[in-house]
Amino acid sequence: MKKFYITTAIYYVNAEPHIGSSYTTIIGDVIARYKRMMGYDVFYLTGTDEHGQKIEQAARERGIEPKQLCDEIAGKFKQLWKDLGITNDYFVRTTDEAHVRTVQYFVSKMLENGDLYKGIYQGWYCVPCETYWGEDELEVDEHGHKLCPSCKREVRLIEEENYFFRLSKYNGPLLKLFNENPKFVEPDFRRNEMLRILESGLRDLSITRTTLKWGIPLPADPQHVIYVWVDALINYVSAIGYPDNPEMFNKWWPADVHLIGKEINRFHSLIWPAMLMSVGLPLPKKIYAHGWLTVNGQKISKSLGNAIDPREYVNRYGNDVVRYYLVRDIMFGRDGDFSEENLIKRLNSDLANDYGNLLHRTLAMIQKHFDSRMPEIGALEDIDRKLIEEYEKAEASYIELMDNLEITDAVDRLWQFISLLNKYFDETHPWIIAKEGNKERLGTILALVTENIMKVATLISPIMPDSSAEVYRRLSIEPRFTHETLQGWDNLKGKQIIHGEPLFKKMDKSEIDVGVRLTNVSSVEEKVEMNENTNPSVNVVTTEELIDIDTFKKLDLRVAKIVEAEKVQKSEKLVKLQIDLGDLGKRQIVAGIAQYYNPEELVGKLIIVVANLKPAKLMGIESKGMLLAAKKDGQLRLLTVLGDIEPGAKIS
Ligand code: MSP
Repeated sequence: MKKFYITTAIYYVNAEPHIGSSYTTIIGDVIARYKRMMGYDVFYLTGTDEHGQKIEQAARERGIEPKQLCDEIAGKFKQLWKDLGITNDYFVRTTDEAHVRTVQYFVSKMLENGDLYKGIYQGWYCVPCETYWGEDELEVDEHGHKLCPSCKREVRLIEEENYFFRLSKYNGPLLKLFNENPKFVEPDFRRNEMLRILESGLRDLSITRTTLKWGIPLPADPQHVIYVWVDALINYVSAIGYPDNPEMFNKWWPADVHLIGKEINRFHSLIWPAMLMSVGLPLPKKIYAHGWLTVNGQKISKSLGNAIDPREYVNRYGNDVVRYYLVRDIMFGRDGDFSEENLIKRLNSDLANDYGNLLHRTLAMIQKHFDSRMPEIGALEDIDRKLIEEYEKAEASYIELMDNLEITDAVDRLWQFISLLNKYFDETHPWIIAKEGNKERLGTILALVTENIMKVATLISPIMPDSSAEVYRRLSIEPRFTHETLQGWDNLKGKQIIHGEPLFKKMDKSEIDVGVRLTNVSSVEEKVEMNENTNPSVNVVTTEELIDIDTFKKLDLRVAKIVEAEKVQKSEKLVKLQIDLGDLGKRQIVAGIAQYYNPEELVGKLIIVVANLKPAKLMGIESKGMLLAAKKDGQLRLLTVLGDIEPGAKIS
């Protein structure tokens, strides 16, 4: 049996979990369940990161001991994962005795191998990120305060004697690793960010503190406490028995995927592999750095009151609906916005209409015309054979996309098939055949649709385990999801079916308490929508009419280079771009592409724009031109040129 070891980042225990921090664990669970379904032996690890200054400070603020805070919050994380049906195989805590021993063993080995040395650290430290920064990396605010480039909070100057890790020694080996394994870090734009850091050269890293008590002492010099990031990264090996349980460790290591958020990529893609190289352990196969969630366009934070417990949504809509929405609407790998309105749209259209209703209609007819017994598939007609072929294609692409961790696209592909299945149902018009009394044909259509629904339920079970189990129950089959149920077309013959209530209940937007803030945000977005219609920056115009060349020539299409890109505040969709049009100079355009691209990945890219469009204002921001993009089935891709060409080049 092939093994699959997947981990999430482990969570700081200074604050309670929210919908954003649950994202990593929910996606990890989707991947773990998918691999189990495909027949892998899976180990899914999550846990809590409990040492360091940030936790010490949070405990002090509450007037309790750090360990008490850790126990309390770690308990809340554990309970949350249980309530969300997360199938982690283990929950690691960095205050676990076994973890502490492993960290001490690991760091002592780095010391023995000559990779640590003592020196004076004088520099800047960000407590919320538990990160050291060089002076040249900091940002400065209008009052002259030095800020962390990652979280924008003030950094502290520290000066103390530390042990340093010779990270610079691993610059060359890491470059080699990146060049030889182009998929070591994904998505590729995250890999490129890491490559740029490597190309500018790594500095040695301070990895102990003497002014901090809440941490793991370095055995060779116990006044020194091990840097919380070094301590935390080692969880990935301590949790699977390194070094005391070689049998377990060798079974699972190396990890197949470390699933993390984009802001902690550097630790996982550069520092962690260098630490492993230092002690001579194999490297993980992949680091996947996903994007960040906002809620209704705003950063998640306690002070904004939007650090919502995911159970609130689960209680309102059900676990499967929340999971489906997160996977489907937030393009995996990219930043995305959690919006309850969009969740309801997905629930009503994809789940209730396309999927649930199809099952409902089919089972209702089986109940009525076959006394709730699954009929047999009889002689096939062309339309049936075509449907089977389409299913096979959909299954193959779904599996390929899931294997490549393109999980949003995988689900999208499956829903394309569900549309086809609905079309098949409508085009074969079983209700007319029932009236005509052709039982054999009617049985074939209904059985074929039900077999397909069962296969869809299997494929989608990693994302929606509860509703898939319910589909199985209604078809009188054991809710054990394996790829074996994907084989053959007579899995259900003769089974007793249960018609039951619709699988998903539609919700009306007005049924939810959207609150004043959300209403405001959405009305702003509606205005954007109207503006976007008058200046359809992302809509490709299609027309049945033929045009002559002169009409086409009226368009001044040009190649432009994006020189700056930033998200428009308070808008879910808009990005403000500064573009270079060569001879035509530089100018600003605004485009509705924020859900598809991160601003940072756009800089330097060549795009195609309509340069002679009348200027328009989107949310009060002037846009002088329109970029071209291809859009289909909720996907959007910018148009570009094959090969290099100077900005300003005319398209004819
Ligand atoms: N303790 C470190 C990780 C150590 S791993 C050896 C840490 N903890 S964290 O609690 O700040 O973040 C844990 C995970 O939650 C990260 O993967 C992070 O990206 C994710 N998220 C926290 N807020 C998030 C969003 N708003 N959106 C998506 N993921 C986010 O970093």
